[in-house]
Amino acid sequence: MIAEPPLKSLAPFRIGTAVRAAELTEPAYGDLVARHFSQITAEWEMKMEYVVQPDGSFRFDRADAIAGFAQRRGLKLFGHTLLWYANEPEGFARLDETRQSFEGALRNYVTAMVSRYRGLATGWDVVNEPVMENGEGLRESLWTRKLGQTGHFKVAFEAAKAADPAAVLFVNDYHLESRPAKLAAYMRLIEQLLKDGVPLGGIGCQTHCWSEMAPGAITATLKALAGFGLPIHLSEMDVSTVQGGMLASRAEAEQRQARLYAEAVEAFAALPERQQFAFTVWGLRDRDSWLKRENASDRPLLFDDAGRPKPAFSAVVNALRRRGSAG
Ligand code: G3I
Repeated sequence: MIAEPPLKSLAPFRIGTAVRAAELTEPAYGDLVARHFSQITAEWEMKMEYVVQPDGSFRFDRADAIAGFAQRRGLKLFGHTLLWYANEPEGFARLDETRQSFEGALRNYVTAMVSRYRGLATGWDVVNEPVMENGEGLRESLWTRKLGQTGHFKVAFEAAKAADPAAVLFVNDYHLESRPAKLAAYMRLIEQLLKDGVPLGGIGCQTHCWSEMAPGAITATLKALAGFGLPIHLSEMDVSTVQGGMLASRAEAEQRQARLYAEAVEAFAALPERQQFAFTVWGLRDRDSWLKRENASDRPLLFDDAGRPKPAFSAVVNALRRRGSAG
């Protein structure tokens, strides 16, 4: 069998995948990651839910293992994520009510995380998923309750900037392609952050999709977000073959999936070069996907359970080659 071309050899931009420390110790898995990708994102082991212990101490063992893999294999690292409404670890929630100690502890955490990977991390999701699902405002969380909506962005972004001035600092969210109200609220937030002088350096669009998604939605969303002129990270793409809409046959679902991956690559590659931060898929093989926990028959990624390329992989290769020949 002719070995499939390395994606990163065809992509004029960083192309990434989400990884977990344990899988990176499997030679076949690690080699496939290093063959195709130029950047890796920790799927969960650089989040507070893993790093922050109940006593408030930090554990970096798995984050360091992932960073070490990147360094050894010549890959870049993307930091995911510093603040997230879904992570409110005991170590922080127990802090006393005085704002100074909470703010100080948060600054300390952000500084510890970001400075640790300075020079290797190309950027960070500083605040993940700040917009309410229905788009009717911003989410409440431990972070906003303690520091206010404006305050929590300011503290987190300024601490991250001070810890690594070269890292591109992102806000990141999902379902922007399918919920116009959420996209509008996200864009209002970005506008406000820029107006407030928050050091926002890039915009994350997670792009968790499903095979029945309407063609063109991804393209329209990236175009809208690119209007701010900032680097765009297509940060977590997967295409569920079982979620959303009527269920086509497996073959039809995989063909629709392939077309959506091709559309995303073409839309991303059509951005001005200075706005092409990275194109990241949310996992390597179907078996590695978080979506499998919701439905074991889902096949959302570019490689099948055995690590063999799928029609979606070929669609990405062809889209990259078309873009490359377009010059
Ligand atoms: O590996 C441990 C296992 O040893 C333990 O027995 C088990 C029960 O505690 O937990 C396992 O770790 C889980 C980990 O996934 C590994 O699969 C964590 O509990 C679980 O919280 C973690 O879920 C991750 C989730 O974010 C929450 O961090 C998913 O893998 C990850 O795909 C998902 O990714 C998010 C992005 O960060 C933000 N955008 C949406 C995306 C999908 O939800």
